[in-house]
Amino acid sequence: MNLKKVVFPVAGLGSRFLPATKAIPKEMLPIIDKPLIQYAVEEAIDAGFNELIFITGDTKRAITDHFDFKPDLNISNLTKDKKIFISQMHRIIPDHVSCQYIIQDEPLGLGHAILQAKEAVGEDPFAVVLADDLIDAKSGVLKQMIEHYQDKNSSIISVQKIKKSESVNYGIIEFKEGGENLIKITNIVEKPSPENAPSNFGVVGRYIFCNKIFSLLEKISVGVDNEIQLTDAIKLLLETSPIYSYEFDGTRYDCGTKLGFTKANIAFALKDRENANKLKGFIKDLL
Ligand code: G1P
Repeated sequence: MNLKKVVFPVAGLGSRFLPATKAIPKEMLPIIDKPLIQYAVEEAIDAGFNELIFITGDTKRAITDHFDFKPDLNISNLTKDKKIFISQMHRIIPDHVSCQYIIQDEPLGLGHAILQAKEAVGEDPFAVVLADDLIDAKSGVLKQMIEHYQDKNSSIISVQKIKKSESVNYGIIEFKEGGENLIKITNIVEKPSPENAPSNFGVVGRYIFCNKIFSLLEKISVGVDNEIQLTDAIKLLLETSPIYSYEFDGTRYDCGTKLGFTKANIAFALKDRENANKLKGFIKDLL
């Protein structure tokens, strides 16, 4: 299996989170003490990926700095505990994993962002992770998907059941026959109205693609929201190749929205034993 490369599109404007995202990408916003992008990177490394390809904007360098910067351990007044803690920051990216940063000149959409990785990916299959879809799972979603990829040797898209009224926020899949959690899809539509949504399964930001997707991304023109949409290339890929949807095990937080981001922070804070009880009391008092 040559599935070693993973693409993180992180060049979006993050306009929903302005002014917080004026100088940093939205993927640098933290859930408690860790930026969203780091959760995504750890999920990928844990699943065995060792070539990380970031598609970044040319004005926001924080992600590059976050992964490349090694804090100084020689500051004279560092206590032993602080030294240990800081030295852990040196190992976010283990030695066997490489990072490449590619600049997307203009944020023309998710499809356009992924196309920037064409040369870096080459002939290999690859994964895509949207870091603002934070998924809390016992076994990381990419790891879950790889097992099915090995089985089917086909592109796989992760999905979750959504409320039809929310279809305008998702790529929505269509299929003929249901199944357990792995279904062969027959069509996909980007952000349809609830009346036009072909199912109640929405795409969540984890994908594994064969590299044919690049030539299709080059073919498509601007779609929904005036953007080059990944979904439109997936639709074309379906004409020649099988694609499966995978309903993952785990809880997904849509950290691209203020509500989802806030929920994630509360949920992750409640997992912290030291603070959980105090936080519960605080929330109770607030309510
Ligand atoms: C993107 C995709 C959409 C997918 C969603 C998942 O939309 O275009 O198909 O369902 O991510 O988060 P965005 O949220 O970037 O508008």
